Amino acid sequence: MAKLNGKIALVTGSGRGIGREVALKLASEGASVVVNDLDHEPAHETVQAILEAGGSAIACSGSVVEDGFAERFVQSGVDAFGGLDIVVNNAGYTWDSVVQKMTDEQWDAIIDVHLKAPFRILRAAQPVISQQVKAERAAGEAVPGRKVVNISSVAGLGGNVGQANYASAKAGITGLTKTLAKEWGRYNVTVNTVAFGFILTRLTEASADGDSTIDVEGRTLQVGVNPELLEGLKTAVPLGRAGTPEEAAGAVSLFCLPESDYVSAQTLICGGGLMI
Ligand SMILES: NC(=O)c1ccc[n+]([C@@H]2O[C@H](COP(=O)([O-])OP(=O)(O)OC[C@H]3O[C@@H](n4cnc5c(N)ncnc54)[C@H](O)[C@@H]3O)[C@@H](O)[C@H]2O)c1
Repeated sequence: MAKLNGKIALVTGSGRGIGREVALKLASEGASVVVNDLDHEPAHETVQAILEAGGSAIACSGSVVEDGFAERFVQSGVDAFGGLDIVVNNAGYTWDSVVQKMTDEQWDAIIDVHLKAPFRILRAAQPVISQQVKAERAAGEAVPGRKVVNISSVAGLGGNVGQANYASAKAGITGLTKTLAKEWGRYNVTVNTVAFGFILTRLTEASADGDSTIDVEGRTLQVGVNPELLEGLKTAVPLGRAGTPEEAAGAVSLFCLPESDYVSAQTLICGGGLMI
């Protein structure tokens, strides 16, 4: 029996990697999903995969940092499916340098995508959630458990060399989580964070010569990880390996299912036992 039948889920950055698997997982549990990605093609590909599996989804492409995006994103869920039950703030990327080489542009871009964008999306979601709850109470219905999951990183919990911008944003998102857990308890919304350790996506693929890059908003950015570091995971991580995007999505889905209806303001580390 699908556990999210009738629920409407918004997932940012779900054209690839972890976000894509979150969208597929929530759809497989019966949720209708609004798929967002900066890149149009991957967003449509995720929608297509959900539709082909018998689920329900639409795409809302565009950058989460664009002015007006948050309102458009929330409204697209209301227009297509009639409301909003689950928000997963996942979109993002890394743009690393040691602090003495980090530019203001680099700092701002990473804070904007990982912290300001989730804040704007949740701010835009508030009137819709409040209105739904008012209508449910007026009709004498039980207010269902709505869910927010913000994505962080072990870098946000323990810091990481070369990631002053990213670690600060990912630490900040835990403050946003805890604050909204307090503000939105009265709407029966649980707000939690999942902090990933090492998950195999294009951001973390092995790159011996440092030539792996991604294109984000007109910038070509170096990503990837030294293969020796990947090899080192075998000893650093109790489970002895990196995680898969499917496993990462499994951790996110825990906070979206009714089983977690009384769990809020928490940070779950999904890192194969890695301790911070
Ligand atoms: N992979 C890991 O080991 C790891 C570890 C800790 C945290 N995370 C976090 O998990 C999340 C997903 O990362 P991933 O590894 O799946 O990366 P990914 O690159 O595979 O997927 C991220 C997706 O987000 C999209 N995106 C980037 N900027 C965007 C923007 N401005 N607007 C809309 N979409 C945008 C990208 O186009 C991409 O499709 C990120 O927040 C990342 O920081 C990942």
